Amino acid sequence: MTEASYPVPAAWAKDARIDAAAYDRMYAEAATDPDAFWAKEAQRLDWIVPPTKIKDTSFDEADFRIRWFEDGQLNVAANCVDRHADTRPDATAILWEGDDPADSRTISYAELRDEVSRLANALKARGVAKGDRVTIYLPMIPEAAFAMLACARIGAIHSVVFGGFSPDSLCNRIHDCDSRVVITADEGLRGGKTIPLKANVDAALDQGDLGVETVIVVRRTGGDIAMTEGRDCWYHECVANQSTDCAPEPMNAEDPLFILYTSGSTGQPKGVLHTTGGYLVWASMTHEYVFDYRAGDVFWCAADVGWVTGHTYTLYGALANGATTVMFEGVPNYPDHSRFWQIVDKYQVSTLYTAPTALRALMREGDDWVTRTSRKSLRLLGSVGEPINPEAWNWYHNVVGEGRCPIVDTWWQTETGGHMISPLPGATALKPGSATKPLFGVVPELVDADGKVLDGAVEGNLVIADSWPGQMRTVWNDHARFFQTYFSTYPGKYFTGDGCRRDADGYYWITGRVDDVINVSGHRMGTAEVESALVAHSKVAEAAVVGMPHDVKGQGIYAYVMLNANAEPSEELRKELVQWVRREIGPIATPDVLQFARGLPKTRSGKIMRRILRKIAENQLDGLGDTSTLADPTVVDALITGREKAT
Ligand code: WTA
Repeated sequence: MTEASYPVPAAWAKDARIDAAAYDRMYAEAATDPDAFWAKEAQRLDWIVPPTKIKDTSFDEADFRIRWFEDGQLNVAANCVDRHADTRPDATAILWEGDDPADSRTISYAELRDEVSRLANALKARGVAKGDRVTIYLPMIPEAAFAMLACARIGAIHSVVFGGFSPDSLCNRIHDCDSRVVITADEGLRGGKTIPLKANVDAALDQGDLGVETVIVVRRTGGDIAMTEGRDCWYHECVANQSTDCAPEPMNAEDPLFILYTSGSTGQPKGVLHTTGGYLVWASMTHEYVFDYRAGDVFWCAADVGWVTGHTYTLYGALANGATTVMFEGVPNYPDHSRFWQIVDKYQVSTLYTAPTALRALMREGDDWVTRTSRKSLRLLGSVGEPINPEAWNWYHNVVGEGRCPIVDTWWQTETGGHMISPLPGATALKPGSATKPLFGVVPELVDADGKVLDGAVEGNLVIADSWPGQMRTVWNDHARFFQTYFSTYPGKYFTGDGCRRDADGYYWITGRVDDVINVSGHRMGTAEVESALVAHSKVAEAAVVGMPHDVKGQGIYAYVMLNANAEPSEELRKELVQWVRREIGPIATPDVLQFARGLPKTRSGKIMRRILRKIAENQLDGLGDTSTLADPTVVDALITGREKAT
């Protein structure tokens, strides 16, 4: 292998919590005696009833089950808040940085406990009980953390919906998990622009009888909004008279903690369900080992809490470990392109965790925005969400980290709960673009299309052969879909949907999705979702959506659209359809290219050959392969000609 390799820096090797030998030893321990390994790791949490049964799992259809720590009892909020508030009440839990650099707030663990308890009592007063679902549609403000933790405290199941999703998407998610309570804000604020969150909630609730009884509204901007008598109440009024005492609900380790909707290759987004004990052990362990978390570190995960990265690392993992976590409301380029590095200096951030798409966007603005700041506090950098291209890796390493900070390129998924394949900074030599090696308890395998396990240096489909504590437990309301989606393609194994290469050193290189999911700016988007939004338009007969390479976003959205006989292609209609998708799903689903097509490449049995559409979108016209089996081979030439007009 000729890839560049960066050995563990001397300072890190000397002071490593887990060095290369310890990594090997712990990996072997987790493999040979998982019960002993995980019983020990579980001790990182405070249990009301410590578990005696540790691992009880099988991916086989006949006795399919995933249970971890199943006789243990604990409460997530007690672990993330109370136990630190008891011992270090004045330690900072959350450093909140507003969209406007003049806006910030410091919240100690004692204050966090009070805020969470008051909201928890307010929810109870509104009739929310253990097992009830609460939808959270908030910007990156402290109340988002309070809301998630308040749910955890009383055993309610939160479903956070990213503030960039449309009323339609929000409506579907509220409906699917049957939430009776929604927590939102008047407006969000990002890059100086407002986002009409409350108006979106109103529009979502207007779409049908969703059974939402309570909408709690945080006053963020003071913007003009409508309040529905009897249903809506201001957050500050709801919590005003509530007590700061609220006993944490004892939860079984396998009781649900949250639902988070994510896109798959077919159908509507799935409600990924995570439970209490295994998830928190995994969040805490990976946060500690992968980020080499040490007391006093200021940890900044720049992901929105609307995504799993924000759940597991901005919030649960960081707070379980008693860290100071930075919550940033804004965007990397506002007021200017130095914002990230100004925040690093302002709060003396030790670890920054962000996505390659943000790095690529900042990289093109030039080094000066970075080098004019100090960044001396940084000791570790992290990457997540998509493969990081070596150019962005090198820039992150050399310019941002001045060659001093290791980069942990963490591969994982909403479904996995936390990191799966990642370097440990004191143990793993780095190769730019590789997520390197599996964490403890993670058994990756590469298989071919028939499920045959491939050995050695090879490329294949990435599966995980055994259960790990942080794994999702089901798809909300659809256990059959859970099994079908993840365990039926390669029986007995969890299928990730990713392609991957393993090199001669046993390092893993994720090559991207092998299903119909595309990764836009580190966000998952199902091509089927965009297609169904398009065909919902009265002028559209058929649509096919594929990913295309994009310099900043990683992948962009390329849509082929066939119109109904009564409609004519026009620039105006093209714009209208692009806007339509934005409105139906949200801005993150905006097609980058929309090409009108008079026909799509289909086999004689009517199946769309996406491979061909992908190649055309990529402009790889010599890679089209055999098109003679198409029902109408001439559509390909028409698509190639049409591409020039569209791009
Ligand atoms: C991709 C985000 C390469 C992958 C935590 C996965 C990555 C999907 C990496 C999950 C990485 C995530 N290198 N690809 N370090 N991290 N991915 O559910 O395709 O939003 O399947 O979870 O992102 O996206 P999700």
